[in-house]
Amino acid sequence: MTLATGEDDWVVEILSETPSTNAVLAERARQGAAHGLVIATEHQTAGRGRLDRTWTTPRSTALTFSVLLRPDGLAPTRWTWLPLLTGLAVTSALRSLGYDALVKWPNDVLLRTSEGERKVCGILVERVDTPAFGAGTAAAVIGIGLNTSMGADDLPVETATSLALASGGPVDRTAVLRELLRSLFAHYADWLADPEEAASAYREMSGTLGRQVRAELPGGDVLTGVAQAVDETGCLIISTEAGPVTVAAGDVVHLRAT
Ligand code: BTN
Repeated sequence: MTLATGEDDWVVEILSETPSTNAVLAERARQGAAHGLVIATEHQTAGRGRLDRTWTTPRSTALTFSVLLRPDGLAPTRWTWLPLLTGLAVTSALRSLGYDALVKWPNDVLLRTSEGERKVCGILVERVDTPAFGAGTAAAVIGIGLNTSMGADDLPVETATSLALASGGPVDRTAVLRELLRSLFAHYADWLADPEEAASAYREMSGTLGRQVRAELPGGDVLTGVAQAVDETGCLIISTEAGPVTVAAGDVVHLRAT
């Protein structure tokens, strides 16, 4: 099914069930699909998460979708900002819908609730090389999983929440999807034109910067310190007792406010 959104920037295809919208869209990108194609599904059977994890949501209780961007000619050093930019766009969209959202580095979107900060959205950005369409061409698959109408028993972990749980009311998933897409394409265009402005907006929506954090690195190392800055490649700079450390990937846990 194709959703007519009335917008020029994107076309949404909705699948009843699929292993992973990121996997489907990556294949479509290799076949030449255009910038702006969105694949959404009611149910993923093999959803993928960051750091090679799985991502599971009960049928029709989340928005699970992937967006194809073709950043033609974008310097390779700028690609690493796309995950953060997506976190910024989702946070900004949720704020404009009235949710008290913030972004945890690199791109988990949290809601402030009476029980504390809870994760409502995960983002997985994957690069797909498409040499058949020109040497060096690549597409970005922007995968977004947003918990919309999950009840407490549906949550994968107790540190998660959903829009319905946070607001105590029903959620219009189509309206939320439309706002997410509007925000993503607007932030993407602004970021192409002015990356520094996007970095400043990211800092403003960040729940991580200025906080005491624990970073769990992919190799198993753990470090603690104050999250000081996000650099131009999207890395987090943590000020530790041993000096500043640059973190490119990993899980960050927010500890107390400084
Ligand atoms: C995370 O680990 O926090 C990222 C989760 C990303 C999940 C989304 S759901 C839509 C898209 N398709 C996938 O297989 N994963 C992403």
